[in-house]
Amino acid sequence: MTMSHAIEVHGVSKRYGDGPLVLDGIDFYARSGEFVSFVGPSGCGKSTLFNIVTGLLAPSSGRVLVNGVETTGSPSRSIGYVLQKDLLMPWRTIMRNVILGLEVHRVGRAEARRRASALFDAYHLTGHEDAYPGQLSGGMRQRAALMRTMVTDPDIILMDEAYKALDYPLKIQLESELMDTVKAAGKTVVFVTHDIEEAVTLSDRVYVLKAHPGQLVQEIEIDLGTDSHAINERRLASAFNDYYETIWRSIGAGGRTEVAA
Ligand SMILES: Nc1ncnc2c1ncn2[C@@H]1O[C@H](COP(=O)(O)OP(=O)(O)O)[C@@H](O)[C@H]1O
Ligand SMILES: [Mg+2]
Repeated sequence: MTMSHAIEVHGVSKRYGDGPLVLDGIDFYARSGEFVSFVGPSGCGKSTLFNIVTGLLAPSSGRVLVNGVETTGSPSRSIGYVLQKDLLMPWRTIMRNVILGLEVHRVGRAEARRRASALFDAYHLTGHEDAYPGQLSGGMRQRAALMRTMVTDPDIILMDEAYKALDYPLKIQLESELMDTVKAAGKTVVFVTHDIEEAVTLSDRVYVLKAHPGQLVQEIEIDLGTDSHAINERRLASAFNDYYETIWRSIGAGGRTEVAA
């Protein structure tokens, strides 16, 4: 018996209506327990690809498999999705936003609150349980949105520029906690970022995308020569700069192709 990957995407292309091709023949996979990142310029189709993987959007062609089962165009329960925009419901308190996913899964109110309460400390939102989203900063709202996904304990986590709005020390801290959590629990993470440093530090593998149309230009296996998941140790590994430069050049090459096309 062969083990199926957590996610497999075969030949996915997408155009919106009769618009231009946004994604062109995307093939990728994420092994179970792997941390995979996509890096690419704005408009290259990263969010479109994620919407297709989660089943919120149907591709124009191609297939999506989650844990070996075809899910193309329909949402999968195994996937937790942290969107680029936080999309909290403004009329619900932070606590009631965080437990939303559990309510959908029919977890009782008291149990949902108990599970959520355990996360408020880690996400630095203790004391804000009864605040409304409009009363919090953008960073705090983004942390609440992260909690809403994490509290449902999904096997596969898709994160679309989820840490973008956070200030640097908090970003490093939350990334460290994310790494500890996902590595200990063997979760699969697929991550979108503009930030090459973030991609190299966190990932087992990085895919580089170019725009117009969105195509994969490179796939890079990251081996920083350390088993540590600590952000600092990974950032300071001697191999870090070589990977940074490889991806930088790859994105540059994608940019030139775009100009020439
Ligand atoms: N709902 C939509 N309708 C039409 N065009 C869209 C829609 N969503 C995204 N696009 C277009 O698809 C391209 C890729 O967008 P997107 O997936 O958001 O890229 P990224 O997340 O990499 O910035 C862009 O040119 C964008 O304008
Ligand atoms: Mg996007």
